[in-house]
Amino acid sequence: MIELGVNIDHIATLREARRTVEPDPLWGAVLAELGGADGITVHLREDRRHISDRDVKLLRESVRCKLNMEMAAVDEIVKIACEIVPDQATLVPERREEITTEGGLNVKDQFEKIKKIVEKLQNRFIAVSLFLDPDPQQIIAGIKTGCDAIEIHTGKYALANKPQNITPELSRIIEVSAIITGANLRLHAGHGLTYHNVYPIVKIPNMKELNIGHSIIARSIMVGLKEAVHEMKQLINNNIN
Ligand code: PXP
Repeated sequence: MIELGVNIDHIATLREARRTVEPDPLWGAVLAELGGADGITVHLREDRRHISDRDVKLLRESVRCKLNMEMAAVDEIVKIACEIVPDQATLVPERREEITTEGGLNVKDQFEKIKKIVEKLQNRFIAVSLFLDPDPQQIIAGIKTGCDAIEIHTGKYALANKPQNITPELSRIIEVSAIITGANLRLHAGHGLTYHNVYPIVKIPNMKELNIGHSIIARSIMVGLKEAVHEMKQLINNNIN
């Protein structure tokens, strides 16, 4: 079985657009879990643009499935993770000006630093995953850190829109997947996966976990909007004098 981690950052993004209290990612986590999510994924960014410290604390107390905390390899956030103790930490690169995590972690150029963080988190019994581009050199460096899993960044594959672009991107992912599973690490993938492009990724042998956010949250607005309007209409009309 492939585990599905639902990334609920996008719910918090909507809340922060109004600096208000709804929608609450905590409610989203409960509903995702009721829907069958195997994991809840959140990214506590250094600029706290969506998920807040309050969210991760409450999620740690409430989530019954796997809590996966995405995080930059920086002291402040590593310290918080060591206090919160999520089931899994996924180390990702972070640039303030980016809209989302636009590339994989450059583990090759900061090997010693990443290795130390991996050990620190593992000493707190947190499984560590590295978010890496499907680049064999980065994957091999990642394996050497002693991490538990590697999540392949599927963003370029997801953006490819013609068969001649999709096929080479998929081949890159399949090639590095074999390196990861050959090293007995858990194979994860994520970023930009949708209801339309997920199938070839699901078919990769020994795939263990997919982390999907935007497409699921986007669809939830569409499948839920009709009901939400209906509820408001009833509320308004039932309160006319
Ligand atoms: N995996 C990682 C490591 C990510 O950083 C993200 C985006 O936050 C995702 C998966 C989910 O990406 P998307 O929202 O495009 O499904």
